[in-house]
Amino acid sequence: MVANSKHLIQVSEVVLPCSELESTLTFFTKNLGFHINSIFPADNPVVAVISGHGVRIRLESGGSGSPGKLCLHCRNPEEFSDGATELTAPNGTCVEIVEANPSLVLPPEQQSFVMNRFNKNDSWEIGRAGMLYRDLIPNRQGGRFIASHILIPEGGPVPDYVHFHKIRFQMIYCYKGWVRVVYDEQGAPFVMYPGDCVLQPPQIRHRVLECSAGLEVIEVGCPAEHETWADPELDLPNAKVQSNRDFSGQHFVFHQGANAKWNPWLMEGFEFRDTEIGTATKGLAGVRVVRPLYDSRPLVYSHSGEFYFFFILEGGVTLTCEKFRSQRMEAGDSCVIPAQQRYALTDCSDDLQLLEVIFPSELETQLHSVSVEDLINIGD
Ligand SMILES: [Fe+2]
Repeated sequence: MVANSKHLIQVSEVVLPCSELESTLTFFTKNLGFHINSIFPADNPVVAVISGHGVRIRLESGGSGSPGKLCLHCRNPEEFSDGATELTAPNGTCVEIVEANPSLVLPPEQQSFVMNRFNKNDSWEIGRAGMLYRDLIPNRQGGRFIASHILIPEGGPVPDYVHFHKIRFQMIYCYKGWVRVVYDEQGAPFVMYPGDCVLQPPQIRHRVLECSAGLEVIEVGCPAEHETWADPELDLPNAKVQSNRDFSGQHFVFHQGANAKWNPWLMEGFEFRDTEIGTATKGLAGVRVVRPLYDSRPLVYSHSGEFYFFFILEGGVTLTCEKFRSQRMEAGDSCVIPAQQRYALTDCSDDLQLLEVIFPSELETQLHSVSVEDLINIGD
């Protein structure tokens, strides 16, 4: 078998048997818009080769086997088939009519409290291209959100290809090690170091090229399940650079932690560095790193947003949540706090750093008069 056969194979055909060639041929040409490439023998045709919509089909009269299934991806299925979603050709081939570019299905909000603990002995799930995964939100908030801690133990070239994701939101934060990546119209490949992060806007073509041994990243996406497509036609990097290119209303972001400015956070005694993902997504989502500035009096907050997730990058903090006991969280632990749930962060270590992902970027937050002690009692 020749591994790289693209220069040897000129064309491929799908063979469909049919008991009666003429009516099947008429269906494919008149109803579905295929055209005839070849038909023979002329006096009594038994084979017709037809093509259209990116596929070549060989109809064989008297052939054996299943009549098969053909899926037609249409720009406007209603217009094409008068609302029919499935047709049957005279030879029995099932023809499914589907939307070529279906809009993203976003599962309804289903917020709940999720605490995920990092245990070095936990088994990591094996994913694609030698990557190991920790699922940080196993309930996926009803399928709306996914957060993964991804580890690539072996350094070197990554067996990736140019691809893109059909998503509403996706960001990647470099936690440990380094990774070299390249993005469509965003210039030369670049290296992400710990503290750096990217916003991958919907359908931006990209490729992971190389990484250090022990690379760890945090990836957060919405919705949890999405389609990934390869783009074999595109070579990256490409010459054109358009850093402000619009991708479904979002811009690409490469945030470098080392150059970032720290600003006071809404929680007294903390400061944060913003990744500017809020601006790049027009307020859809925010991503920032938060650290304590000084010892402050403990305060109780809640939010009324769509999503509030944080991951402990360094240090430790005690999380007290209404309906849950106080819990000490350390590096590698993460949490989702649902809307309206009152919580407090106390006993921060000096080196604490939280990675925070919020929807929307201007998360509405309420300050409550209840004390942390009272919140603990509610929890008990
Ligand atoms: Fe990707």
